[in-house]
Amino acid sequence: MAKTNIIAGLDVGSGKLTCVAAAQDFETNTLRVEAAASVPCKGLRAGVVLDIRETSMAAVSLLTAVEKECGKDIGALFMGVRGSHLESFTNHGTYNISRADKEITINDMQLAIENAKAIPIKNDNEIINVIPQSFTIDKEKGILNPEGMEGSLLEVDVHITTGSSAHLNNLTKAIQKPGYRVDGTFYGLVPLADMVLTQEEKEIGSMLIDLGGESMSVGIYIDGVLRFSRDIPFGCDLITSDIARLLHTPRQNAREIKEKYGVAFPVFLEDDGEIPVPTLDGRATHNVKKSFVLDIIQPRVEELFEEVKKVVDRSGYKDFPVVGILSGGGSAMPGMTNVCVNVLGLREVRAGSVSREAIIGDERFFDPQYSTALALVAYASQRGLYEEFNKASFEQKTGMISKLGKIFKGVDIFGN
Ligand SMILES: Nc1ncnc2c1ncn2[C@@H]1O[C@H](COP(=O)(O)OP(=O)(O)OP(=O)(O)O)[C@@H](O)[C@H]1O
Ligand SMILES: [Mg+2]
Repeated sequence: MAKTNIIAGLDVGSGKLTCVAAAQDFETNTLRVEAAASVPCKGLRAGVVLDIRETSMAAVSLLTAVEKECGKDIGALFMGVRGSHLESFTNHGTYNISRADKEITINDMQLAIENAKAIPIKNDNEIINVIPQSFTIDKEKGILNPEGMEGSLLEVDVHITTGSSAHLNNLTKAIQKPGYRVDGTFYGLVPLADMVLTQEEKEIGSMLIDLGGESMSVGIYIDGVLRFSRDIPFGCDLITSDIARLLHTPRQNAREIKEKYGVAFPVFLEDDGEIPVPTLDGRATHNVKKSFVLDIIQPRVEELFEEVKKVVDRSGYKDFPVVGILSGGGSAMPGMTNVCVNVLGLREVRAGSVSREAIIGDERFFDPQYSTALALVAYASQRGLYEEFNKASFEQKTGMISKLGKIFKGVDIFGN
């Protein structure tokens, strides 16, 4: 029996689908990226399906291209969703251990988590992810894994993400229509933050900012656990719009100028040479100085981070993060980290990519545009979700999966 299979992560972005596929090798305990691709999708806007047929067609072309590059079929598919219909919050659950032995079991943990899930959610919404943050045993706080410890009162804080059932069903339908099966759905920020931040950063207090095209996402980790997450419904495409408007050039050219010459902070301006800018009708070009482009970009980037700051200020955790980590396409622009330090008042900001300890592969797969899809694969694999969905496919259970523990339906008990 084969000891490898293909796990795919599908990142549903604002106007595109991105997929990364990796081979899980159960003999060597490695997860190796084999393929990555992305396709534009007109059937999506801000992570919501506007047209099932268009979205299905985009999914088929993407997933078949990825399967072709791997030379194998996808064995398990995990989907990462975004969008302003998603809401995240924290809740508290308790469970009394009335047995004589008082030794806490995974079942007790699950029951405490179940109680924390008992929250009023909007009629047409459903819970997507429940991530236990930390447990308390008899008022002793900050316990990450209480299994085997003794106590009478077990409490848990959980991070819950809910989303519109209709939007989620439409997405699943669009992917499954052509014959693929969605094995799990996550709020994309959750695996991304988990895989990009180091354990030290999670402990010390850190903020992940995912700079996408039409959206930005913010996640805050404190004391090792995810405390806050939120999507903001606009992103780095606004920089493109500003360049297009102020330089009188088509959006496509504006985007190219941004990605090729754009910097967000003056020290990254290597020279003040001129850039050729096509006119709106495409018949001629005019030249502008690189510093002029910087003067367009910098105020917009400052404004984007001001919006992030507003969200963080309202989160209840504004004084906690000391470091920032940027990801997503926008993080590729030189100077982003400098503006972020200045606006958010963080001690240090870096551009991050998915940890090479979690997943290995050619350098090109670690480009920021693939980060969420890559993180989805690594997250699902590390937490044994892959095995959960494919039990029948493998005779041999390996250390890599079993040491990370059991996964309950929709609840990742080691999801800190
Ligand atoms: N080298 C670069 N320099 C500056 N900006 C870049 C660069 N590469 C990509 N971008 C910008 O990053 C944005 C796209 O980021 P990403 O690929 O993470 O988006 P997405 O996941 O599709 O969008 P969203 O997260 O909004 O759904 C676009 O605005 C793009 O122009
Ligand atoms: Mg994205």
